[in-house]
Amino acid sequence: MTQLNFGLIGAGRIGQVHAESLTYRLPEAKLLAVSDVYEAAAQACAAKFHIPHAHADHRAILDNPDIDAVAICSSTPTHAPFMIEAAQAGKHIFCEKPIALDLGKIDEALAAVEQAGVKLQIGFNRRFDANFRQLHETVRSGKIGTPHVVQITSRDPAPPPVEYIKASGGIFLDMAIHDFDMARYLTGSEVTKVYSAGAVLVDPAIGQEGDIDTAITTLWFDNGALGVIDNSRKAVYGYDQRAEIFGSKGSATSLNDTPSTVAISGSDGILSEKPLHFFLERYAESFAEELRCFIEAINNGTAVPGAKEALNSVLIARAAQQSLETNRPVIIGEG
Ligand SMILES: NC(=O)c1ccc[n+]([C@@H]2O[C@H](COP(=O)([O-])OP(=O)(O)OC[C@H]3O[C@@H](n4cnc5c(N)ncnc54)[C@H](O)[C@@H]3O)[C@@H](O)[C@H]2O)c1
Repeated sequence: MTQLNFGLIGAGRIGQVHAESLTYRLPEAKLLAVSDVYEAAAQACAAKFHIPHAHADHRAILDNPDIDAVAICSSTPTHAPFMIEAAQAGKHIFCEKPIALDLGKIDEALAAVEQAGVKLQIGFNRRFDANFRQLHETVRSGKIGTPHVVQITSRDPAPPPVEYIKASGGIFLDMAIHDFDMARYLTGSEVTKVYSAGAVLVDPAIGQEGDIDTAITTLWFDNGALGVIDNSRKAVYGYDQRAEIFGSKGSATSLNDTPSTVAISGSDGILSEKPLHFFLERYAESFAEELRCFIEAINNGTAVPGAKEALNSVLIARAAQQSLETNRPVIIGEG
């Protein structure tokens, strides 16, 4: 088997998840180098995952002729410029979501990828989760008939620090963006219009930053289906990730994953496990699977979430934000 050589840019939370997959879970990959603007973070990551080279400057990765592909896992504002540089260096690109919060920057980055003819995959890992993939396949197989309603519940166990909220782009671009992509994935249809309501019910500090922590978004799809997504930054019982798609012949539902299926029955009732704590636990397998599919896409040209998914999810998130601010339904791409 020919191994594909990777460079990792950004050694934070998600960077380390991908470092783990590339090092231990994917024999078809070899992680040759890691960079982080904080060199100590790059060095610590290199030591932890036995990566041969650690750099402070990502250019060292892009200039390395042995590296075939990069995983861009640094902070969001770096994604678009790094994508452009990586494309110009002829590297295939796996980039965490979102490419940018600004549409002009997304267009520039996507144009550079197109021009270079390199493969691009965006980190919509939930498409590679076994539950959601099965839901998607069920809809595609026609078993539930024509989709009428999709319902997505997506609640975090606890809000991130306010420092994170400040730079996040807001709940729709930071958190619900995964759910907007999931809505498109499950229905196989584009979202045409959204209407969002929001509130600050978890942490007033989030409100002071101009963001919300609780949201309901109604969606209209171009195949006629409707959808609703409910988001919260805090569910006291853990990471709540469920979906139902209802159609003319029935419905399909995916429930939360739990650490075990043990239920303890007693005189007061029946107690079972809380959902897996957060995304690192719940989506661990999907993070490895998305990179496996990226490698397959490079080798065999198979389809992966790329430019269209990157752009359309941001367009929906921006429309949701606009809807919240103007208190009216907003057509996608309207403003
Ligand atoms: N797919 C998912 O489920 C998922 C989950 C978490 C985060 N993310 C995305 O991944 C990205 C990183 O998030 P995180 O939670 O790992 O953040 P993080 O803050 O833990 O890590 C970001 C890392 O990037 C480094 N960095 C910043 N500027 C850099 C530069 N110029 N060059 C190299 N490194 C640089 C930082 O030093 C830090 O180590 C964000 O865009 C986020 O939206 C996606």
